[in-house]
Amino acid sequence: MSGPGRTPGALPRALIVGSGIAGLTAALELGHCTVVTKTTLGEGSSRWAQGGLAAAIGPGDSTADHAEDTRAVSSGLTVDEIVDMVTGDAPGRIRWLQHLGTGFDLAEDGTPALGREAGHRSRRIVHAGGDATGAAVMGALVAAVRARPDIEVVENHRAVDLVRADGRIVGVTVAGPDGHVRALTAAAVVLATGGIGRVFARTTNPAEATGDGLAMALRAGAPIRDPEFVQFHPTALDGALDPLPLLTEALRGDGARLIDAAGRRYLTGQHPDAELAPRDVVARANWAAQQHGAIFLDARHLDTGPGATFTERFPTVFAACMAAGIDPRREPIPVTPAQHYHVGGIMTDGWGRAGLPGLYACGEVASIGLHGANRLASNSLVEGLVLGGRVAASIADAPSTPRLRQPGAHRIRPEIPADPPDPGAPDDATAVQHLRATMWRHGGLVRDADGLTGALDTLDGLRPTLDTGITGRNLAAVAALVLRAALAREESRGGHHRADHPTSLPGPGSHTVVQDTDVPHRPLQPFGVHERQVAS
Ligand code: SIN
Repeated sequence: MSGPGRTPGALPRALIVGSGIAGLTAALELGHCTVVTKTTLGEGSSRWAQGGLAAAIGPGDSTADHAEDTRAVSSGLTVDEIVDMVTGDAPGRIRWLQHLGTGFDLAEDGTPALGREAGHRSRRIVHAGGDATGAAVMGALVAAVRARPDIEVVENHRAVDLVRADGRIVGVTVAGPDGHVRALTAAAVVLATGGIGRVFARTTNPAEATGDGLAMALRAGAPIRDPEFVQFHPTALDGALDPLPLLTEALRGDGARLIDAAGRRYLTGQHPDAELAPRDVVARANWAAQQHGAIFLDARHLDTGPGATFTERFPTVFAACMAAGIDPRREPIPVTPAQHYHVGGIMTDGWGRAGLPGLYACGEVASIGLHGANRLASNSLVEGLVLGGRVAASIADAPSTPRLRQPGAHRIRPEIPADPPDPGAPDDATAVQHLRATMWRHGGLVRDADGLTGALDTLDGLRPTLDTGITGRNLAAVAALVLRAALAREESRGGHHRADHPTSLPGPGSHTVVQDTDVPHRPLQPFGVHERQVAS
């Protein structure tokens, strides 16, 4: 295939699977590439992000402080160079987005207005359109990609599996809207497919977040790191919607409070930062409180008049609440924790290089070592920007043999199913719902060995049915990955809480690496052999 601006017959420099913030950034910075997306350009989780982009650009703030906050919330397992690199590059990426035309909310002096979120010592969250940040950023990226003749966009095509030749990943099989499967090839493949939220019954993630890239990488034998670390957001709007509307952490940053049905603030006795404690702490407190009755976010006092009305500050939240019949200016909002972000993922170095030659990953699907066991709020869009740029630089420079090592890791072999399903076969909705409910109950905020083992048994029973559809097969693979890694980690750390092992093991913690030892993989280290900063 060739795009209008590419030499006919020339192999694309890369096939980028996924069109969120990381994938489109990689495409813009690399050029001469193909973006494959299962819906249309810009759909997916990035567009729904309310909280913004964390960057140390405020007076008195520093990238070192941002890095320290990232590490403090992580519960260990971060890679120091990666944390320093991403937080250090974040301010430049904000400027880059401004050059692309993203209209961030501005303070009176014309610089970006800065919000506060849990775990950040200062106001350093950049927003656009109040709580519509993702939509604004994605609007700018999509327009920039559409204006580039050297970037071909293949929409409404589902990636099925990675294609390997001569020991390298050289392409992807894709299923078109008619179910016809064909192979697309390129000099490199970048997985930027986002998260796994649809594995859980309660999630803020859109329908696209079915773990496709993670499952594909797993089947191909790429090392996957720490898949048990799943982040649950403390506050989604409780109800029957799927996905559940997010109630941004910026509400609590501005003073909204969590209360039970009696109006009692239950966080104050549990953590010195109360509602602004790290996200895993607040999410688990909400889960525990919810076992005794409904819980609410009281944001009534945030509607403080002209220039700062609720509708001006939180238009997305306001619309979601009103659609559910709740006026957040007049009544507390019923809330529930919900799956929000996958912290683990395809193991990569600081250039997005995965453990198989020719394969790269960036954004939520990747595990680069930024988040450790628990992600700091508003670090993910920034990660997507920084790593998208570094993947592009890495592919453009075609660096020589990187090395990957994860000393002291606990290794598990993946399960590799044999045959791909018929792409025309529908997914079994009942089996998918059963899987999602099981994962929410036993693979969610509070886990234990009995629940995890029972969930794996349930999954075994569902697997023959799930494996007949492309989505079901991916959801099943990802669910098994999370459950098996959660069972193997006999401690509580960050987003992974085991009721039967409620404390962290002493020391800095060890990683879980899932990989097929029969598949030769290339060794990596955080930065590989070649180091340079991405121009911003
Ligand atoms: C939020 O707005 O609360 C979400 C921000 C994030 O997940 O980083």
